[in-house]
Amino acid sequence: MRLNLKVWRQAGPNASGRLVDYAAENVSPDMSFLEMLDVVNEGLVKKGEDAIAFDSDCREGICGMCSLVVNGVPHGPDRGTTVCQLHMRKFRDGETITIEPWRAKAFPIVKDLIVDRSAFDRIIAAGGYVSINCGGAPDGNAIPISKETSEKAMDSAACIGCGACVAACKNASAHLFMSAKISQLATLPQGQVERARRVVAMIDQADGEGFGTCSNEGECEAVCPKEIPISNIARMTREYVRSLWVAGK
Ligand code: SF4
Ligand code: FES
Repeated sequence: MRLNLKVWRQAGPNASGRLVDYAAENVSPDMSFLEMLDVVNEGLVKKGEDAIAFDSDCREGICGMCSLVVNGVPHGPDRGTTVCQLHMRKFRDGETITIEPWRAKAFPIVKDLIVDRSAFDRIIAAGGYVSINCGGAPDGNAIPISKETSEKAMDSAACIGCGACVAACKNASAHLFMSAKISQLATLPQGQVERARRVVAMIDQADGEGFGTCSNEGECEAVCPKEIPISNIARMTREYVRSLWVAGK
């Protein structure tokens, strides 16, 4: 395959950026999208040019590092799939592909296609944890939790913190990400001690980081590689109302 790429190049956080044209030659349909970029980068390095900077780590759809907007869609055209698991057979020979970084005020661009997602870390640090002593794995397994409850918690825990939900949202809202963690911990007995405090702390932190609010558009759910449903956001809202009631407000 031969593909025409339009790639966002930006030398640093304060530099101005632009789309630059590259030709990706001899692309195998079995290559992953990131392997295709690796090949393009090898060609650029051979010519003495600056390689395209992009994030990746596991390349197995589990770490949440890869973060490319492909033809306007975070993680590209394959539903429920991270861009590292997207394969070139999804594209046509000769197609033009536009590749951009996540775009949100709270995710400033570091270089080219890499953004700073540490705002998510600060939201988790504000409340997305349990600070009670849960003991070791055998102690955790000794707490009786119904299959239905544990599966519900696991469905929310599947969030990999990639940030595609923010990139897809016209409000750059982090609600789907936050609601996944809040739902996971609100469902389990270990999460009950800080349940009321957690939701308020995480929402306050997200507001302070510059994420927007939710207007129920649903783009977040549509692009989420782990298919986290927006019903989690409804649960987060219920958790917030519950926290006000617990605080007697
Ligand atoms: S909710 Fe989905 S899109 Fe958002 S951070 Fe988690 S895995 Fe990524
Ligand atoms: S590189 Fe880990 S999820 Fe894509």
